[in-house]
Amino acid sequence: MQEILEKVDQLKKEIQDTSLSTSEELEKYRIRFLGTKGLVKELMSEMKNVSNEMKKDFGAKLNEFKIFAETKYEGVSSTDKESANEAIDYSLPGFPSETGSRHPIQLVMNKMISIFEKIGFTVTEGPEIEDDWHNFNALNLPENHPARDMQDTFYISKNPDWLLRTHTSSVQVRVMKEGKLPLRQIFPGRVYRNETVSARAHCFFHQIEGLYIDEKVSFADLKQTLYYFVKEMFGADVKVRFRPSYFPFTEPSAEMDVSCFICASKGCTVCKHTGWVEILGCGMVHPNVLTNCGIDAEKYSGFAWGMGVERTAMMQYGITDIRVLSENDTRFLDQFKNVV
Ligand code: DAH
Repeated sequence: MQEILEKVDQLKKEIQDTSLSTSEELEKYRIRFLGTKGLVKELMSEMKNVSNEMKKDFGAKLNEFKIFAETKYEGVSSTDKESANEAIDYSLPGFPSETGSRHPIQLVMNKMISIFEKIGFTVTEGPEIEDDWHNFNALNLPENHPARDMQDTFYISKNPDWLLRTHTSSVQVRVMKEGKLPLRQIFPGRVYRNETVSARAHCFFHQIEGLYIDEKVSFADLKQTLYYFVKEMFGADVKVRFRPSYFPFTEPSAEMDVSCFICASKGCTVCKHTGWVEILGCGMVHPNVLTNCGIDAEKYSGFAWGMGVERTAMMQYGITDIRVLSENDTRFLDQFKNVV
């Protein structure tokens, strides 16, 4: 016991003489004296070897030593401790907080949405996990219909009736079923297809679809609406052409091309030297679809269209690989800073 008390005196002297002016010295001191395996702890553990009558005196001595060691450490003020860690120059300007940027897909979607909003279309969103009826059956695409092959998708193993929607036409079904007519809405959102991922195709992408239902709606209304859209979106000089096409949910159906605004129809890789780029599918809503959704097909008619967002975004920003849109590489995304 005497031995230990002598050691305590010796250590007190050592503490007195220790300099604590650098971060290394501070840390070394903390570990040697105050750490979990430090000398204070080690000496305290000697208590168990001390006889009962000596415990009080011995305990007091050790406690005093503990406080002595701690006081020395705490005596170094916290700012001194920090500046011992590194010299901070408080007059330097702070790091600016990053504001991020809008994603090119969102930029294009916003523009498309605002164009249709100006002529009275409202926006409705729906679920990305759909049931077979909303995605296919209601749209005149019964099971085993060959046109389902064009839209193979991902099924949810828990329930084979659930799938990731292949188009936002499923949202058209949802609003038609609500039965509030007339209807003038657009449906932006993400859709999924079981496609091999490449520079030109991905297993998910974005669409904006639209639907107009009222009495006496005609194909002329469809054309006029889409002409207006093209003029606002791509410019007054861009030409439009319709090609007859097939979709199970519209009759008649068409695909709409715009003259290539990249090369002014002179021929480039974007338009594959044809001078035209396909941008959407459209048509008059099939009477079976209206009936499936509880709308009187004798009284009402309507038109609908669906367009992809990625293609237009890639053309507008000169993006040649669709995969960069979902890689979250900030070197790519930072280029859209300040774009609104
Ligand atoms: N749903 C179609 C697709 O994803 C696009 C489409 C074509 C939607 C014609 C429509 C339409 O509403 O009328 O390929």
